[in-house]
Amino acid sequence: MSVFSPTLDAKLTRLAEAYPQRRSALVPMLLYAQDELGWLTPEAIREIAERLGETELAVRETISYYSMLRTHPVGRYHVQVCTNISCLLRGGEELLQHCRKRLGLEQRDVTPDGVFSIEEVECIGACSWAPALQVNYDFHQNLDPARADQVLAEYRQKA
Ligand code: FES
Repeated sequence: MSVFSPTLDAKLTRLAEAYPQRRSALVPMLLYAQDELGWLTPEAIREIAERLGETELAVRETISYYSMLRTHPVGRYHVQVCTNISCLLRGGEELLQHCRKRLGLEQRDVTPDGVFSIEEVECIGACSWAPALQVNYDFHQNLDPARADQVLAEYRQKA
């Protein structure tokens, strides 16, 4: 019995058969699973490992490499603030602290209402437009505290 919906179950089956090396389907399978469940639960990791003939450890090693994959629950809008070198030099650390303060997440990682969570991450590939942050799949670049406030307010309004 799959931990995924029938639709995703069928999609994962097709994905596993779409590549000459089954392992090549791992990252897309993890992303689809995370999109459905919100995070990669132990049960989801176990099932994906079984589907691909991999060990759970191998799957967890891959998950740990990618900041967009997570093994814990997050808010509906997961804010990932980059503090790697390009962003750091252009105020990334201050941006992270500002966002934490604005969201009331100075001592925790998820707001009590579950709407926002925050995480400091390594490079998200937007170095030329630093400092940058990512909310779910959306990128926001060339930020300063005022612009970050606007971005967060837009998500708050959608919630
Ligand atoms: S260093 Fe921040 S996006 Fe690359």
